[in-house]
Amino acid sequence: MRRSYIAGNWKMNMTASEGVVLAKELVAAAAGCTAKVLIAPPFTTIPAVREVVKGTNIRIGAQNMSDSESGAHTGEISVLMLKDLGLDAVILGHSERRMIYGEKDAFINRKVKLALAHDLEVILCVGETLEEREAGTVEEVVKTQLVGGLEGLSKEDMKQVVIAYEPVWAIGTGKTATPEDADNVHAYIRAEIEKLFDKEAADDVIIQYGGSVKPGNVKELMAKENIDGALVGGASLKSELFIPIVTYDL
Ligand code: PGA
Repeated sequence: MRRSYIAGNWKMNMTASEGVVLAKELVAAAAGCTAKVLIAPPFTTIPAVREVVKGTNIRIGAQNMSDSESGAHTGEISVLMLKDLGLDAVILGHSERRMIYGEKDAFINRKVKLALAHDLEVILCVGETLEEREAGTVEEVVKTQLVGGLEGLSKEDMKQVVIAYEPVWAIGTGKTATPEDADNVHAYIRAEIEKLFDKEAADDVIIQYGGSVKPGNVKELMAKENIDGALVGGASLKSELFIPIVTYDL
């Protein structure tokens, strides 16, 4: 039985003081929710928010990390620093990292392995651009990102990996994949996980959908067999939008 999992990616928004206000509102509202909940604030906001959510059911993740553990990597943040802050998870391979900062699958794979080696849960993002969708290459693109991102992982490692399917054309645009379209890609991802690992790994893997998830569409997305959660950007920045999403089934 897969437990639903809602994550909020704050991206480059929320100073520490703003984040504390939002986190306090979430703590109160999410106390009774059945879904697993995670928020991913920007690095500098994490310590203050972590204090607010300590001892609650809200987990904290980072939005990225370096592919190296330490050393001469100006501007980067190490997995050791994330662990030191007591974080639970890290989002890797987000389309903004891929598209704006040129991150490739092999580079993302190094980060995935490093995070897992340090017992950090990984939310690995995959998804096609509009051009790729129109060219009919959704499955090819998603498969390449999955195979590349998960290379060298064991079935055991997969217990700490969540996949987020985020069609790039749906991110921050107000356009959402229809629940049927999203579910089809999720089913494809699950089948690929079975090929890469086995049926148990495929049955157990949590696959989140991301791309303009809102209070108005979360229920129909979550009702789909292969959609186990949501990775929420814009709507995670406002408690009046994120709370109805995390409590969608109450
Ligand atoms: P969005 O972002 O909800 O604002 O579309 C999703 C994401 O990028 O994770």
